[in-house]
Amino acid sequence: MLKIERLETGYGKKQVLFGIDLEAAQGKVTAIIGPNGSGKSTALKSIFGLISVWKGTVSYRNKDITNRSTKANVMDGIAFVPQGNRVFDEMTVLENLEIGGFHLPKKSFQTEVNKIWELFPELEQRKKQNSGKLSGGEKQMLALGRALINSPRLLLDEPSLGLSPKLVTFMMNYIRKINHEFGVTVLIVEQKVREVLEVCHHVYSIKLGKIAYSGKPEIIKNDKDKLRELFL
Ligand SMILES: Nc1ncnc2c1ncn2[C@@H]1O[C@H](COP(=O)(O)OP(=O)(O)O)[C@@H](O)[C@H]1O
Ligand SMILES: [Mg+2]
Repeated sequence: MLKIERLETGYGKKQVLFGIDLEAAQGKVTAIIGPNGSGKSTALKSIFGLISVWKGTVSYRNKDITNRSTKANVMDGIAFVPQGNRVFDEMTVLENLEIGGFHLPKKSFQTEVNKIWELFPELEQRKKQNSGKLSGGEKQMLALGRALINSPRLLLDEPSLGLSPKLVTFMMNYIRKINHEFGVTVLIVEQKVREVLEVCHHVYSIKLGKIAYSGKPEIIKNDKDKLRELFL
């Protein structure tokens, strides 16, 4: 579905990724873990077209999309929820969702919004409220909902950031549900390693801008030493 090969990128003169190979399979949850500053967010940003790819390729459904505009990616059903994503506090819950569906005809937007209400009933109850009044967890749901509108492929950067342990579990369950019930392909960067290993089908670890591990989560899940090695 989404494949990156020998990807190199960075900021200005500073190289951050040194030839990364990674694949997010259709209908699956693929996770990227790794220490702070290792280049996880940078990988998502370059896939989505927010920063330019220096070398290597990004392909999507067997088509080369390297350095394609973010707009073209959105129109093609790819959505990106950045790290520490904020919703527009001064706008209502529904208005925030409208931003995610700006490119849709009214009828399809309504169908999509109904799916979001089904997934997050607490958001429907508050659809006319200003988003600034939502709790941290509800804001994250709204950010996820906004990205989910008509986007069968999601790039998520630490959706659990700042959430309480209980809400982290909820968030992971939502991701599982989005994947299972809506068939959404997910590429998720996550620092909550234990939790994300429970929901992903494949996991990569990025260390110092290179892939340090690629495999099934089951293999490393109970291997404390290996996890520490990949994470420190
Ligand atoms: N906008 C930026 N300008 C310059 N350097 C950046 C920028 N964003 C991130 N970096 C640097 O790139 C490296 C990788 O960052 P990032 O991809 O955010 O790491 P991670 O998401 O794995 O914690 C870090 O050294 C970070 O300081
Ligand atoms: Mg990051």
